[in-house]
Amino acid sequence: MPCNCCEITDSQFDESRAKDDITDYRKIGPAKQTKLILEAVRYLQLKNASLLDVGGGIGAIYHELMQDVVSNVIHVDASSAYLKVAKEESVKRGKVDFIKFIHADFTDVEKEIEKTDIVTLDRVVCCYPDYRALLTAAGKHSKRALVMTYPRETWYFKITLGIINFFQKLSRDPFRVFIHPVYQMESLLNILGFSRTSTKRLFVWEMSLYEKEAI
Ligand SMILES: C[S@@+](CC[C@H](N)C(=O)[O-])C[C@H]1O[C@@H](n2cnc3c(N)ncnc32)[C@H](O)[C@@H]1O
Repeated sequence: MPCNCCEITDSQFDESRAKDDITDYRKIGPAKQTKLILEAVRYLQLKNASLLDVGGGIGAIYHELMQDVVSNVIHVDASSAYLKVAKEESVKRGKVDFIKFIHADFTDVEKEIEKTDIVTLDRVVCCYPDYRALLTAAGKHSKRALVMTYPRETWYFKITLGIINFFQKLSRDPFRVFIHPVYQMESLLNILGFSRTSTKRLFVWEMSLYEKEAI
């Protein structure tokens, strides 16, 4: 479904970026922050789980997790180039029949999408202005856990992102990057019934695992 978010992200995450990402993935495997998500999901010791990967890019998370933890996947992405590459890789791996690919802004289509055991957002909240809408929709779709990575909320990254956004504006590119307040993202997920059970940090990225509290 075409949307404003898709137009913006389609031009940002285009074919050449998707090709570069899949080439890197085939050469060296998942990126460091993606590995943190994989570790967190594996820590839950699930089998035959369902996964909703919002903004999954080339699909590294599920290409990996379909080897041992996940049996079916929904990949919603605002980038058609990423979806195309993710689908090609899934065909190569013989898993394409177990994956639904949806080209959309997740917040626009969330009502049509079923709940899954796990929801992942790897470097996605930082591409989206309305983190409340995105995380509320993501949280409502998770039966068991939500795992995400986002930039660390430090003064030096805030300045860096300010500079990046300034040049984006100067070049009339509508795409922006965001450091959303970690405390507020956590409060929102707490209201939706999740508790943070693990956080790990790299230089730029932070990973948090949120597990659904037993009712
Ligand atoms: C920086 S890329 C990260 C891709 C991949 N998760 C990774 O870490 O390599 C951000 C991704 O989020 C997607 N995205 C951002 N906002 C979205 C939204 N509201 N709905 C669906 N996809 C979204 C973009 O299309 C893009 O694929």
